[in-house]
Amino acid sequence: MLLVRLLLVFLFLTNIAKTNEINLFTSRHYESDIDLYKKFTTETGIKVNIINGKSKVLEKRILDEGAKSKADILFLADAGALFSAQEKTLFTKHNLKNIKTLVPKSLRNQYWVGITKRARILFYNPKFTNLTEIKNISYEDLSNEKWKGEIAIRQANNIYNQSLVASIIEHNGVKKTENWLKKFVNNFARVPQGNDRAQILMVAAGEAKLAVANTYYYALMKSGKKGKEQKKAAEKVKPIFPNQSNRGTHINISGAGILKFSPNKENARKFLKFLLTEKAQIHICKNSFEYPIIKNLKNNLLVEEINNFKEDKSISVSVYGERQKQAFKLMKKAGWN
Ligand code: FE2
Repeated sequence: MLLVRLLLVFLFLTNIAKTNEINLFTSRHYESDIDLYKKFTTETGIKVNIINGKSKVLEKRILDEGAKSKADILFLADAGALFSAQEKTLFTKHNLKNIKTLVPKSLRNQYWVGITKRARILFYNPKFTNLTEIKNISYEDLSNEKWKGEIAIRQANNIYNQSLVASIIEHNGVKKTENWLKKFVNNFARVPQGNDRAQILMVAAGEAKLAVANTYYYALMKSGKKGKEQKKAAEKVKPIFPNQSNRGTHINISGAGILKFSPNKENARKFLKFLLTEKAQIHICKNSFEYPIIKNLKNNLLVEEINNFKEDKSISVSVYGERQKQAFKLMKKAGWN
């Protein structure tokens, strides 16, 4: 009898443990995110199990495991990566109440919601380039012959670049983008290689006049978290936000959705709601140097120069995913390695 009772208690406890957790599949790799998830656990009693990996690897695993998957949430960088998972019908509708008042329409859909924002911008070195020369620069201007051999950017397989080109196709059409790409690729300072920070280093060293990189990499270098050399390099360059005199600068997101076979959907919903609270947003952005996504919360990063700019809100970030394959094809065709 005692054994049976003990067994029942055991089953009861394991059942509680089972329901009081979420399995978070994420391509994010910030120590500070983990501290935030601990706060969530303290508040709610819901344990967060983190499964880290590259977005394509996580996507494949969830797809392969199908209905047996224990994954509750997929949290990825780049709207294109989220769209890819959406296309494979990995998500269920998140049904988050208040989402309309919380997150701008262009940064979410019914399957996933942006958690942070970033901008893909240009960096220049005032020692070699005058601000007046580039003050009103647009992405379109990067095809101008005056930048021949002067632009540092990473490879075509980089999803941030694919999203940027996708947005340009959406704005200017296929034909114009195709022409633009040919000239743009002709202006590259070297065969594309390295990450975003490597492009900023090129400009700091005077080996290229313009670098294309995401805002948070610049702030990360300036913070000193990547070492003295990178801090010094970042201090030599300045950010410039393209298309300020027309549609605004290209914006992307990191975002998350609840998975179709999630065993803990209610917990997952609580987790997403938590990530969209003011304190969670401030915590993430203070540490990762991304921008908060919720309305009415201002960009307030330590790196003042990247706080204020006009964002391109005219297209939904979903478009990046829809046009990414097309963008990649055109990029390769133009000779972008
Ligand atoms: Fe990144």
